[in-house]
Amino acid sequence: MIIKPRGTSDILPADSPLWQKVESAARETAELFGYGEIRFPTFESTELFQRGVGSTTDVVQKEMYTFADKDGRSMTLRPEGTACVVRSIIENGLCGDAMPLKLYYFTSCFRYEKPAAGRYREFYQFGTELFGADTPSSDASVIALAYTFLQKLGIKDVKLKINSIGCKNCRPAYRQALIEYFSGYEAQLCDTCRQRLQTNPMRILDCKSPECQKIAAGAPKVTDHLCDECRAHLSELTSLLDGMGIAYELDPGIVRGLDYYTKTVFEFIAPVDVDKKTGEKKELAICAGGRYDGLVEEIGGPSLPGIGFAAGMDRLVAAIRLSEQELPAKAKPAVYFAALGARAAAESNKLAYRLRQEGIYAECDIVGRSLKAQMKYADKIGAKYTVIIGDNELDRQSAVLKNMEDGAQLEVSFEELYKILSERG
Ligand code: HAM
Repeated sequence: MIIKPRGTSDILPADSPLWQKVESAARETAELFGYGEIRFPTFESTELFQRGVGSTTDVVQKEMYTFADKDGRSMTLRPEGTACVVRSIIENGLCGDAMPLKLYYFTSCFRYEKPAAGRYREFYQFGTELFGADTPSSDASVIALAYTFLQKLGIKDVKLKINSIGCKNCRPAYRQALIEYFSGYEAQLCDTCRQRLQTNPMRILDCKSPECQKIAAGAPKVTDHLCDECRAHLSELTSLLDGMGIAYELDPGIVRGLDYYTKTVFEFIAPVDVDKKTGEKKELAICAGGRYDGLVEEIGGPSLPGIGFAAGMDRLVAAIRLSEQELPAKAKPAVYFAALGARAAAESNKLAYRLRQEGIYAECDIVGRSLKAQMKYADKIGAKYTVIIGDNELDRQSAVLKNMEDGAQLEVSFEELYKILSERG
């Protein structure tokens, strides 16, 4: 048997209604906030992520699916969407449009991570990006969008954590403080972090190696090194959130794993799994993002500030399942036509087709079951009404419509079926 690659998943028809609920809530909320949808390729040139996400991040150094195409060009399956959106708006000339430019997307992402609950090698994101505004109120509007979306999904125990990781003015001093601190632990750091010590010490803060994480816990906090402008920006953002009644926690430990962030960063955390032995809930980031004021320029565009987030849809689905709410299920047919004989089977097909054309979900036998087996099947798929058609019914062009819930029966002509069914939903 051929099996799927590790860390990937099949989303089966029984699970799809929940995914569709997440997708519709995402689309509805994004459009309510004035965002338009953007779609971009599954693979891009590797250089885009090296420059955008950062060549010393875990994502670029350890997790990308990179390959040479038939012409020997280095290509990478997108590990995230932001760099792709930025490439697309530059290439398509959208940076000159009236600002702000507000975009949303659904994308699959590929990262070669160690698979675990909530951590996959192919996963799905709903993301938004807002360009052309660098104000705290633009940050607040993006966080409010994410908050509204998560509220619509009814996920329980969501926590919002916020931080500022500074800008190009205050970052150098913080970087220096980190180099001084981590130099004292150089021998204990993993090989990658030892190299990062001089190239990008901030990345040691989100290294997944347990030893590096232990050392990073005592590192200087970015919030102690912010310039006045970054401090004021954060303070205005928090008062805007207070004004909107959106609860948050300031957490200087949120540094994010991608290089493009400046100033505001945030993560919404929620339980996505339960340990079967201990009953303890495992919390993960279900939605995360931040400001990236230098990214458009870094990728070759004009100086254009940006901010956005991406919500991991696999984690959202897991969090909804833990939230003890009624889960959506596949739609059930309004009517099932059971046929006795070939002539009746042909008529059933015709009637089902006619009703579907009118927007009514109808089913009939197409596998050649006996009448008894057809009735059993109608029950299994949860048909609200059944109609049995045999020679007598064909002759009088009418049949008995049976309500499967209460057993009530009604003789209706084939002509009237649509009217009756649309009235009875
Ligand atoms: P990220 O934090 O790498 O940010 O990913 C965003 C979200 O994707 C995470 O919070 C998580 O829910 C989900 N996610 C990440 N990795 C995995 C995985 N291996 N398995 C399952 N879910 C995962 C970004 O990707 C940025 N592009 C977000 C952004 C948009 N920032 C600004 N604009």
